[in-house]
Amino acid sequence: MQQERFEQSGTTERNLSMELVRVTEAAALSAGRWMGKGNKEMVDQAAVDAMRRAVDGVDMNGVVVIGEGEKDEAPMLYVGEQIGNGQGPEVDVAVDPVDGTRLLSLGVPGALAVVATAERGTMYSAPFGVFYMEKIAVGPAMRNVIDINAPVMVNLDRIARVRDARIDDLTVVILDRPRHQEMIKQIREVGARIRLISDGDVSAAIQAAMEDYSGVDVLMGIGGAPEAVLAAAAIKCIGGEIQCKVWPRSNEEREKLKADGIDLERVYRTDDLVSGKDVCFAATGITSGELVKGVQYFGWGARTFSIMMRSRSGTIRFIEARHKWRRKH
Ligand code: FBP
Repeated sequence: MQQERFEQSGTTERNLSMELVRVTEAAALSAGRWMGKGNKEMVDQAAVDAMRRAVDGVDMNGVVVIGEGEKDEAPMLYVGEQIGNGQGPEVDVAVDPVDGTRLLSLGVPGALAVVATAERGTMYSAPFGVFYMEKIAVGPAMRNVIDINAPVMVNLDRIARVRDARIDDLTVVILDRPRHQEMIKQIREVGARIRLISDGDVSAAIQAAMEDYSGVDVLMGIGGAPEAVLAAAAIKCIGGEIQCKVWPRSNEEREKLKADGIDLERVYRTDDLVSGKDVCFAATGITSGELVKGVQYFGWGARTFSIMMRSRSGTIRFIEARHKWRRKH
């Protein structure tokens, strides 16, 4: 009888995502204190401070490619900042200390702390002015059938065929925004189910890519450009596909982007967003969501729930951690 063999390469060498998860845990533990307090700024500040402190302990020579913005507007985790203790591999780093600041400030489900790394020079760094991207994301079985330029109906029909399902068996996740009115109408017309989310399309893209795990078949619609790169890092580990196009918010922005030489017709695939071969990804739940539970605080400490992945081995781990307080009484 032929025995199943698991790919062992990568098990003996260092897996950076093991350390990255401590970074997202730190951000979640700190930001989670601000749940429901209606203060988006403090939510972000708490996560950024904690993430910045924790990332210093990671054995890597990292440069922030997706971060909190340009140096003059973001004192920490700004694009171009060197992070890590400088002793490990040279990597690009993408961070989103809180994906879903509004969710967290309102105390509603789905806020995550997220970090990803890939070999230096292999992550797409969106040029200044590129804020949004149109996206479609699916899991491994559907990776070769989607086409961001095809009508909604065509994509859903192809996905249904691969899943050996009917279109009305499918679930599409999409951000609840006025800009999606037409797309939502088209999805409804062909009969697919819709999960409207108020924020957090990194988590939504991961759920779409994880196929049978989540009950979501595809992410569609326009969201943040940095979130597209983070989602691509996760999808690279899972083996699915994300396709994106730069999306200008207005005619003025369209003209500006064109004048800056940005090709609005270009389709960015997973490998265009993250081309590295050793991609690591970690995310910790801050408020409970479909992917992972949120932080739970107790007198003795706190519990966190994270997901971590690595593209080289394809391993996906769900980690529940018990953190004991070291309080001074
Ligand atoms: P933040 O937590 O950084 O605000 O992002 C939340 C988010 O919902 C992302 O997940 C998504 O890509 C983006 O905002 C959508 O942007 P907008 O809210 O402007 O439509």
